[in-house]
Amino acid sequence: MKHILLGDLEVSRIGLGAMGMSHGYTGSGTDDAESIRTIHRALELGVTLIDTAEIYGPYINEELLGKALKGRREQVVIATKFGLVSHAGDGPWNLDSSPANIRTAVEGSLKRLGTDHIDLYYQHRVDPNTPIEDTISAVAELVEQGKVRHIGLSEAWLETIRRAHAVHPIAALQSEYSLWTRDQEQALPLLRELGIGLVAYSPLGHGFLTGQIRSESDFGPDDFRATNPRFTGENFQRNLALADEVQAIAHEAGATPAQVAIAWLLSKGDDIAPIPGTKRVSRVEENVAADDLELTAEQLAKLDSLPPAAGGHHNETQMQMIER
Ligand SMILES: NC(=O)c1ccc[n+]([C@@H]2O[C@H](COP(=O)([O-])OP(=O)(O)OC[C@H]3O[C@@H](n4cnc5c(N)ncnc54)[C@H](OP(=O)(O)O)[C@@H]3O)[C@@H](O)[C@H]2O)c1
Repeated sequence: MKHILLGDLEVSRIGLGAMGMSHGYTGSGTDDAESIRTIHRALELGVTLIDTAEIYGPYINEELLGKALKGRREQVVIATKFGLVSHAGDGPWNLDSSPANIRTAVEGSLKRLGTDHIDLYYQHRVDPNTPIEDTISAVAELVEQGKVRHIGLSEAWLETIRRAHAVHPIAALQSEYSLWTRDQEQALPLLRELGIGLVAYSPLGHGFLTGQIRSESDFGPDDFRATNPRFTGENFQRNLALADEVQAIAHEAGATPAQVAIAWLLSKGDDIAPIPGTKRVSRVEENVAADDLELTAEQLAKLDSLPPAAGGHHNETQMQMIER
């Protein structure tokens, strides 16, 4: 597995997203044993970057990762996130990046993860009620204390990124970036100017780009895709054509659509680390194999020319938390 730098943090260029093991999708949390085997298999295959957040569950995804990493801590760059749980306030799904909340959040994450340091600690969403300077100063104090090694942002936009980086170097921005979600390309020049890496979340379009999702009735009521505009109604039908195009290119490349979606992201630069999520051993093997897939210039051009997804990234409530 090739390695890249996010700021000065070295990681495998394909990571593993752990969220779906506990949260968000139909079947999440139903087979922790297979999820743990998936994490172990990822490590064997050379993945070092594993992504979680306190909000996933909430809390149980960090606990699961802590359990899986017992005795293997040194092999892993643990990335987790704060800011979507307000500990002294209204609880989960409330923005709070105040210094006091961060100081509480970090202790919980360290405990659940069973470690004395977090390698990459992201603000999950920008908090309009706390100046970013105050947030980053608070995380920088955790760096001084050795509890955090590197600082990240998620779904922050240009001015916030610049202001945050002026307080303390930011190693990575984690935002949605995939064949059907390309607005991060507008942020790449700034990230490159500042030496910040891009961690591409949902690189498989929440599974849609793999071609395995063919019907809206695939989603249970707790699955956030059931209310995601790309996965519902007319948009769903229109997006099927996009998944079919990826499938056709995969066929030509002798690869799977998931591998094509990941390899396309890798072709965009050696400062981009996709973190495909899966809770299955067979799929982590498939996804990691994209490290060896070289698409031709013609295949890349075809992928570049695909239309964007029909429908916004997230439902309306979630979109309000995304800074643009
Ligand atoms: N910063 C943020 O705000 C944010 C937001 C969303 C996600 N994330 C992070 O990014 C990670 C990945 O994003 P994501 O889970 O939303 O989306 P994703 O990686 O685009 O897709 C994950 C979905 O695809 C399925 N899948 C994975 N590999 C597959 C394959 N080879 N063939 C067919 N289906 C496959 C998974 O199902 P199975 O699990 O059943 O295999 C899961 O339903 C998350 O785990 C999380 O750590 C961060």
